[in-house]
Amino acid sequence: MSHTPLPPLPYDPTTLPRETARHYIPATDQEIQAMLGALGLSQLDELFTHIPAAARMVDPPALPEELGYVDLYQHVVAQSQKNRLPDMAFLGDGLPHYRVPDLVPFVAGLRELMTAYTPYQPERSQGTLMTQWLYECCLAMLTGFEAINASQYDRATALVEALYTAARLSRQGRTHFLLLGSLWPQDLEVVRTLLAGTRLTYEVVPIDSERGTVPLAVLEQQAVAQAEGLAGIAFPQVNSLGCLEDVDGLTGLAHRLGARAIVVTDPMLLATGGLKAPGTFGAEGEGADILVGEAQHLAIPPHYGGPGLGVFGMRYNAAHQQDIRQAPGRFVGDAQDEAGRHAKVMVLSTREQHIRRHKATSNICTNQGFVATLAAAAILARGEEGMRKACMQARANALTAARGLLQVPGVRLAFPETPFWNAFVLALPCSSASLVQTARQRRMHLGVDVSSRIPGSGGNHLLLSFSDLQEPEHLERLVALFAEAIATPRAEAAVSLPEVPAAFLRREPVGLPSWDHGQLRTFFAALSEQNISPDRTCYPLGSCTMKYNPYINEVAAALPGFAHLHPDAPLADAQGTLEVLYNMQEYFKAITGLSAVTTQPVAGAQGELVGLKMFQAYHRSRGDTQRDIVLIPHSAHGTNPATATMAGFETVQRGAETLSGVVEINAGSNGQIAMDHLRQILDRYRGRIAGIMVTNPNTSGVFESRFADIAALIHAEGGLVYMDGANMNAIAGWVNLSALGVDAVHNNNHKTWTIPHGGGGPGDAIVAVSERLAPFLPGVQVVRREHGYALQHPPQSIGSVHRHFGNMGHKIRAYTYLRALGREGVRRMSAVAVLAARYLHHRLKHHFPTLPQETPDSPRMHEFIITLPEATFETLEATGISRARAIGPFGKLFLDFGYHAPTVSFPEAQGLMIEPTESYTKAELDRFADSIILMLHLVNEQPTILHTVPHFTPVDRIDDVSANKHVVVSARLTTLPQVLPNRIAPDQLAQMPLEAIAEAIRAASAAKLQGLR
Ligand SMILES: Cc1ncc(COP(=O)(O)O)c(C=O)c1O
Repeated sequence: MSHTPLPPLPYDPTTLPRETARHYIPATDQEIQAMLGALGLSQLDELFTHIPAAARMVDPPALPEELGYVDLYQHVVAQSQKNRLPDMAFLGDGLPHYRVPDLVPFVAGLRELMTAYTPYQPERSQGTLMTQWLYECCLAMLTGFEAINASQYDRATALVEALYTAARLSRQGRTHFLLLGSLWPQDLEVVRTLLAGTRLTYEVVPIDSERGTVPLAVLEQQAVAQAEGLAGIAFPQVNSLGCLEDVDGLTGLAHRLGARAIVVTDPMLLATGGLKAPGTFGAEGEGADILVGEAQHLAIPPHYGGPGLGVFGMRYNAAHQQDIRQAPGRFVGDAQDEAGRHAKVMVLSTREQHIRRHKATSNICTNQGFVATLAAAAILARGEEGMRKACMQARANALTAARGLLQVPGVRLAFPETPFWNAFVLALPCSSASLVQTARQRRMHLGVDVSSRIPGSGGNHLLLSFSDLQEPEHLERLVALFAEAIATPRAEAAVSLPEVPAAFLRREPVGLPSWDHGQLRTFFAALSEQNISPDRTCYPLGSCTMKYNPYINEVAAALPGFAHLHPDAPLADAQGTLEVLYNMQEYFKAITGLSAVTTQPVAGAQGELVGLKMFQAYHRSRGDTQRDIVLIPHSAHGTNPATATMAGFETVQRGAETLSGVVEINAGSNGQIAMDHLRQILDRYRGRIAGIMVTNPNTSGVFESRFADIAALIHAEGGLVYMDGANMNAIAGWVNLSALGVDAVHNNNHKTWTIPHGGGGPGDAIVAVSERLAPFLPGVQVVRREHGYALQHPPQSIGSVHRHFGNMGHKIRAYTYLRALGREGVRRMSAVAVLAARYLHHRLKHHFPTLPQETPDSPRMHEFIITLPEATFETLEATGISRARAIGPFGKLFLDFGYHAPTVSFPEAQGLMIEPTESYTKAELDRFADSIILMLHLVNEQPTILHTVPHFTPVDRIDDVSANKHVVVSARLTTLPQVLPNRIAPDQLAQMPLEAIAEAIRAASAAKLQGLR
């Protein structure tokens, strides 16, 4: 391959051993042989012999050959250059692009923040918790809402969740909604897809084509007629035509009818000088009830549409104390540690899917944490003045452009009476589509043809959006284009623009603090030290696949050709990205053995939802409308039952009997699905089974060896089979899912395919399906045509689950990884992951019992569950630590050794689920095993240690009980919060002999106990 000069990498790969290892597997061939030898094996493929032969892939998946590091870099740069970026763009359309402060790429490079998991271990995650708290506070200040979280994938899914939330809040059991037709059509499409087949209903109230808004009087008539069942009215502040809606009137109307006012907003436009804060809408200033929005553009470029940052807000004040308990997703709250230090912790978790399963408030699991972290950094870096400037520059650019363009004869504002802020629609004397094409030839992405949004449009309506990115020269070139394509402007023509009424504007300044950028860098760098990253050591969170995230993925995703491309760019300019999507479709067909693939879902849980929506559509298409049961094993991850509920399979029970919805299947003594129980259930619900959801390998790390038989039974009953593929890291390239009888499977790209977890998200997913489900796939398929890549709608598509193409930034990361793996690498990756787990289990199994109890010898795949020996439980009980409370503190002992804890108490109450992944050397695994064995000795010898763990983190054990009693999820920011240092940093622990760590623990525990006395 010939190399053109490449931009220098922002790091030196030769100093990063995992980065330059083949397939990012640092274990040497000798180490791999030694681990195999310890297990009595000689080759990697022997790790899979227990999997039925019929299900095994014969050949490696047909991916291209792997690329070496430099070739890989060369390839992704060249691929990004196949996209054609314009010199300027006026696209926006709900996904604007603003200038990003320099602090953001700095924070994005802090690996401990970027690669960490969801902060389930708060003592080792104060960095993540603090950045997400800062996001909550900044957004609360901008919006006037007291409780904001970062759990929604994007604005569209936030809107769907807002409807569910409003229905839950309705005391009268109301489930009907009015949605303004001026919401973004892409968002409305996601609503349509996700509400199909659920108990929620809605109507879209059309736009008035003269005003560009929905007239309040028309809405009122409709709302009053439906008031009895009306749970909420959802409306935009700035609508999809750039027009400002009457937010006070809309809020008042909703409240008069006892419904919730759900507002869709853009937080950037709420800065000082900008639009009215939703927390103050309404004639009395009482505010809207639920807030929805998109905040991606606060921090990152468009990335061809994703990741997004769905804003979700609730009122949490004297008048609304309890509403927050119905909110979806995660909140970070104020807390204290045992010594009274200020700290943060996740609060209100008892609403979440991992606890409440099918009764959870949402199926959201992986959220948008890292984009929120970056948004917090961006807002703090801009400060009060910077935010004001960005918002007002967008406005000023819109006004300048409007004045210039309206001097062109024949060009007029489509809605001359209706106020706008930073986007407006022009009615042109020509077709908008043709003007967009002319502009493209001048390297300009002009705007969006919105003719289809306006009843009676003659195809001549063009939406132009503005931000702080346009320079005066861009605005001049814009007017020049119109002059050239339409007519010479008449400088003397008087231009009148609609005034924005004072009632639509913010009254008080936001009051954001302003800090020096150097100070902020030091602050964020210090926060990152409070976390831990899989870069350093094994991060053994079972079921989460915390593997190494290559640096080069980040470089690829940030290449301007990929990152700066807007999803409304003409397809001819997006060929590089479309080719990546096309290849991903092909690669995942090969990896799964299935027939078709969608790249649209943005997380595992959303993949599950896509799967079940397709099941429903398939059954509906056959006139089979009685199928109201989804079977899920008892040990399944909480997202599975929560997803089934969201899809419309709400569980109805009479006593212990399930009448409809989710029916649980038991595990047999071998840890796998109990076939006799399954048969009983199939008999009981004959003709009503929509499908089954099975995690494979299951959450005990065991391959479901009867999977194909289970699938055959379900198919014989007319049902379909969903495989939760969260554990694909164990089987990718080895198991043919088609042979297993899978109809749909998700791959969590943030697990198997090396996307960083970001302290909670954003994640990403790929869903592959069998032939029978291919016609129902969501979104669009990328197809290869003679002249390039194009888009095609699947014939019976369920509709879109994302407003564009999913988390495209993440697809680039996964694609980069796949090109580094190539044909051999996919298999090698999963084989070494299984080897690492088997080897570690082999090292530990004589010290710790394995769970499930009856199955110590059934081969584990990429993870395994251990528990404490009976004698240790008894010793602990004697010191006042009950069996039920022992595992959590034992997990915290891992923090003392410089590791993250394993997954505790899931799926086994007394289990520690350990997943080492393929990212560590044998020496690292040996030290890890020795550490765990030493932990057991320590606890046996001095059980009171578990009263005082952890000892070296910045804070002691956090009191989450009182944090949940007195929930505080935002505060006015005035000073930069204090960052406490590690008492012994993980790096330092990694250098210490294990016995020295044990000694330090003994001493620290004794000192703490002394202090407590
Ligand atoms: C087994 C399993 N299924 C589903 C999920 C949900 O995936 P996501 O978090 O990407 O929504 C997870 C996430 O941890 C999981 O472990």
